[in-house]
Amino acid sequence: PAPNEAAGKSRDGFTSSFGVLAATLGSAVGLGNIWKFPYVTGANGGAGFLVVYLLATLLVGLPVMIAEITLGRKARADAVSTLRTLAPAGQWWWLVGLSGVVAAFLIMSFYSEVAAWVFAYVFKAMRGDILSSDPAVTSAAFGALISDPWQALLWQWGVLLLIGGILVCGVAKGIEAVTKRLMPLLFVLLLVIGVRSLMLPGAAAGLAFLFTPDWSKLSASVVLVAMGLAFFKLSIGMGTMITYGSYFRAEQNVPLTTVRVMAADLFVSMLAGIAIFPAVFSFGFQPAAGPSLLFITIPAVFASMPFGHLFMVLFFVLSAVAATGAMLSLLEVPVSVMVGRFGVSRLRATGISLLLLALVGASCALSNSVLADVKPFGMTFFDLFDYLSSNILLPLGGICICLFVAWVWGRQQLEEALSNQGALANKQVVAMVYLLLKFITPALIALVMLRGLGWL
Ligand code: PFF
Repeated sequence: PAPNEAAGKSRDGFTSSFGVLAATLGSAVGLGNIWKFPYVTGANGGAGFLVVYLLATLLVGLPVMIAEITLGRKARADAVSTLRTLAPAGQWWWLVGLSGVVAAFLIMSFYSEVAAWVFAYVFKAMRGDILSSDPAVTSAAFGALISDPWQALLWQWGVLLLIGGILVCGVAKGIEAVTKRLMPLLFVLLLVIGVRSLMLPGAAAGLAFLFTPDWSKLSASVVLVAMGLAFFKLSIGMGTMITYGSYFRAEQNVPLTTVRVMAADLFVSMLAGIAIFPAVFSFGFQPAAGPSLLFITIPAVFASMPFGHLFMVLFFVLSAVAATGAMLSLLEVPVSVMVGRFGVSRLRATGISLLLLALVGASCALSNSVLADVKPFGMTFFDLFDYLSSNILLPLGGICICLFVAWVWGRQQLEEALSNQGALANKQVVAMVYLLLKFITPALIALVMLRGLGWL
């Protein structure tokens, strides 16, 4: 029996099918869709990149996500305990869970800073501070925000406190209750902004930028970027989905839920691209790479369109909403490990995590000011944490999960868990997932990693 069941305590978890979907999708959808996906796609050859990203999502993302959720639901425990209980005694698989905790801290460090800018921009947009169609003006405003160490730190702390505040309310009353309300709102906002953008004159050029393939841009390192994005997008390779899986209802159809989350996440990414690029081209702006697209170009674009003030506020509210669901799942990884392994209260676990994050995260918050010139491996802490997690830690975690499920846990266990002990007639699905996990997915991840890092 799982540790919590043995203790006879009933464990907190998601209470409805919609709640499961909202929370899991809330984890997947985030700044990845709005901040990473559009510029990474645009900068790496549009449709060509999109095809590789789709393949990575289907052949790598989907099976790993199914595997993680299944493990978590079976063990009903945090990421470290899950691998510890399910592995044969004396084996070290729990280290994969530990690496997940490290990855969660690294990602949360830079992610909470981007979220900090987004939250700051909600207020700036409302006050009309960034309402200028001149990119020089919006650029100066963004520069002033990120290069001010105190503003960068205080907004980050504010974001951390908000996320911590939701988390201490628990899984059902905190995470589920919040994401159930926020996810529908996110879809409505995105549709409104997408339609607005498509109605602008010259929208076609933006769509062409996103969807015309430029195969010459594809290279081994670009394929690694696409795979890293697939991991980052689906929140896999770091125990998040193990943790959320442990809150899944026993009767939830895991493969089906996973496919739905993946499809909805893709849909949001596409909509974000469709909301952003037509508007950018319509007003004659250049699609920039990186944070400047979101924080410099977008405000200038909105300022150029009728009712732009309103749409700008909506856009940053939307981004803040997306970031919130993702951060809840990131922080839940260390919190659940502390509660599960060390028996501390949820309140205390959240407090400790927040304190540690404020410390580690400061290195990212200050990457554009005090620490701008500190560049281990030639990158600021902000870029380094991003690179390390997406391109190294998450894929490595993914390989380990595949190998563990297919080679250690085994086919029979997987079949029982995926079919809800025979209640679902999904033998073919199980067979396919098993085949992917056993050979194809780990081999693909290893190949892409080694080639992408230039080691092969
Ligand atoms: N999936 C989130 C996004 O695309 O924004 C980011 C993320 C959340 C990554 C949770 C990892 C994670 F555990």
